[in-house]
Amino acid sequence: MITSHRKDELLDWIKELLYHSFVLGNKKDSYLETMGYIEALVDEHRTMGGVGSRLKTLVPSVSHFHTKLHLKEAFDMYDEKYAVTQRRHLAPTFNEIRHILNLSQLIAIGTELKFVSFDGDQTLYSDGGNFEEKSGLSYQIIELLKAGIIVCVITAANYQHDGSKYEVRLAGLLRRFIKANLSAEEIERFHIMGGECNFLLQCKMIKLSEEERTGAYEHKASLVPVMHEVWQADHYAAPKPYKWEKDKVIAFLDAAEESFRQSKADLRLRTRIIRKPTSVGMIPGGEAMVGEVPNGHGSLKIKAEALDEVVLRALDNIQNLPAELKQLHYCAFNGGRDCWVDVGTKGVAVEALQAYFDIPKHGCLHVGDQFLQTGNDISARDTCATIWITSPKETFKILDHLLRFSLGMDKVERAAAAAKADDLDNQSQSDATSPRNAPPSPPRMDVYTGELQLPSKDNKAPR
Ligand code: IMP
Ligand code: MG
Repeated sequence: MITSHRKDELLDWIKELLYHSFVLGNKKDSYLETMGYIEALVDEHRTMGGVGSRLKTLVPSVSHFHTKLHLKEAFDMYDEKYAVTQRRHLAPTFNEIRHILNLSQLIAIGTELKFVSFDGDQTLYSDGGNFEEKSGLSYQIIELLKAGIIVCVITAANYQHDGSKYEVRLAGLLRRFIKANLSAEEIERFHIMGGECNFLLQCKMIKLSEEERTGAYEHKASLVPVMHEVWQADHYAAPKPYKWEKDKVIAFLDAAEESFRQSKADLRLRTRIIRKPTSVGMIPGGEAMVGEVPNGHGSLKIKAEALDEVVLRALDNIQNLPAELKQLHYCAFNGGRDCWVDVGTKGVAVEALQAYFDIPKHGCLHVGDQFLQTGNDISARDTCATIWITSPKETFKILDHLLRFSLGMDKVERAAAAAKADDLDNQSQSDATSPRNAPPSPPRMDVYTGELQLPSKDNKAPR
């Protein structure tokens, strides 16, 4: 079986090097020496601009490092907590090395941090889910905004400039901004980029009318489009997605759609293919597809193997397109429950925002879950330091470190901020016991298309 698309060459190489320390007696000094050696190779690679370095020879797929990496310090810190070097039967694993690299990156960016971007699905909320109000991530994001850091969710989810659709996904967080009493200036540091790099929206504090008021709050936080001409203005030396030629984008997506249709037929998939102005997607087809493909699969859930195969075929087919089409910025990825080809990448988003906000590469961080070849966060590695997580729980841990390394908050201060947020939560729950104060339940929405769904009969509120 070909599984190279599920590998990360740099992490595998580090794992192999550390295995030597494990078989040679599992002595901490030996691990630290190895980490120090890798750290020196990364320094050399950075000094040589990534060309012709020893690291490049050893790990050909290695890309840029936008900061130094404190690997020795990170290993030591990780080992102090998890006692990796005390183990007799298990050498450091791939995931542990991923955690240590994340830690070394967080130490390195430290107080230089000016901008953090987050992937949406599986980073801030589960795949297809929404940001829940009680999520601990909200108080951490609020602390970042208060400290002057620009925060942007960079997601593939594409509802063009329709702020109300993104508001459904982020409702819990936006309510928290108001409850935490953030100023208009702090709220306006929060942005969302939809469709990889195609649609930017900014958070604004809006005064509610008498009719709109349901609780104690006079304002709401809304997502408002930022016009393309503003953030992609001519004077910014960065890519400008709105100027990409429409006929090329259409021809490119036609080819991707054709590839998806062929895969659907070949793999007997009970799926639906959907098309948007900058993307084409394949999603579970639902009951309706069972009749259409009697002997097949994927009506409720598409197998991971099928999703990867569809993506790899699309990538292959793109390679055969004329140069003028394959030169477009694009990504093809397995989103966990669906797969997509998007024109645009998160790397382009970060680059454009660095120009718009005037932030150097070494002051930016992108946190995401999709860093394999069939992922859509990997492109951000070209433009900024990245953190690879696998769940919102891991994002929480990462942000706890970030509040410490970048904002200088100690344990007590972090716990106090969390407790204050919990208090707000309890307060809001007791407010909600009055029917007048209960927050309106968010509308149900198809996260793939952004279509609002009518409540089913079963969900109808009792009269
Ligand atoms: P991300 O992880 O935040 O980048 O979001 C990826 C998910 O967004 C996909 O797995 C889809 O479920 C959803 N999505 C909705 N619209 C689009 C689109 O146009 N392109 C890609 N993904 C989309
Ligand atoms: Mg994701």
